[in-house]
Amino acid sequence: MPAFKELVFSGVQPTGNLHLGNYLGAIKRFVAMQARSECIYCVVDLHAITLWQEPAELTSQIREVTAAFLAAGIDPARSIVFNQSQVPQHAELAWIFNCVARLGWLNRMTQFKEKAGKDRENASVGLYDYPVLMAADILAYRATHVPVGEDQKQHLELTRDIAQKFNNDFAGAIAEQGHGEAFFPLTEPLIGGPAARVMSLRDGTRKMSKSDPSDYSRINLTDDADAIAQKVRKAKTDAEPLPAEAAGLDRRPEADNLVGIFAALNDATREEVLRDYGGAQFSAFKGALVDLAVAKLGPIGAEMKRLVGDPGHIDRVLADGAARAEAIAAPNLAAVKDIVGFVRRR
Ligand code: TRP
Repeated sequence: MPAFKELVFSGVQPTGNLHLGNYLGAIKRFVAMQARSECIYCVVDLHAITLWQEPAELTSQIREVTAAFLAAGIDPARSIVFNQSQVPQHAELAWIFNCVARLGWLNRMTQFKEKAGKDRENASVGLYDYPVLMAADILAYRATHVPVGEDQKQHLELTRDIAQKFNNDFAGAIAEQGHGEAFFPLTEPLIGGPAARVMSLRDGTRKMSKSDPSDYSRINLTDDADAIAQKVRKAKTDAEPLPAEAAGLDRRPEADNLVGIFAALNDATREEVLRDYGGAQFSAFKGALVDLAVAKLGPIGAEMKRLVGDPGHIDRVLADGAARAEAIAAPNLAAVKDIVGFVRRR
């Protein structure tokens, strides 16, 4: 595999309120990556409509996710921030990848099975095709690294399968047209950190989710200090004090989740947190967690609200990002069309 220029790409869906899981599992890590890599961060509105969205709500959610990116510290001058539907190459490359990906590959996708539920016949074709569009998002930029949550691992495997099959199926044209051995990189997921999986505050065995009926299960990025305090204080725990070492969190999902959240918010490891709080009762630990969460999330929520109040500014950021994204994706897509054998407009 030839060397590809290091490039980070990731996406967040503009559906439902952003919560601590989205922040710690994705957005906070996006911010950190800017220091080391060239980064492209996308609000994936084409993915959002695989499930029906109220149009006015979708519009405000696109701006809200953008506001969260900026409020959390993504710098739109350094990184590219845009929404997917403004860059036509995503949908166009997805069509070509539809003809590379195999039905059998998509039939194995566990997230489709979860999201489609029992009434699979009534799911949109787009929901089924979701992972192919995701591969197009990433490979339109020939991105090499994708920070995502653990639940997206299978979709990244599919992205690599599509890249590899394209590279093989068109190996002759790829070489003849001067691209060497491979046109697409085999993109690596970046999964990890103490909060790779943030769990519900009410049930440590289930993921924190925007669709959980109980608002006490999650901390929203726009929650105020009172709401954060109430939710942390009511969070489910067990009867034991905190262990002295991370191994003692095994089979204690709620304790593990709260320690993991503390660690991620504080840029520490579980071990470091337990060095300070091992042996502590949950009442004391929760007090410290409230203070930490309010200190870290309060300013982000406040800045989000300020930014959402200036949609003109957000829309200019998105337009600038889309133009810069398209400047990368358009020549890549033109090369893909040449490789496949289409005739260019001249
Ligand atoms: N499927 C991702 C999620 O739900 C969102 C997404 C769409 C994405 N396209 C992407 C993430 C490309 C990383 C790269 O979290």
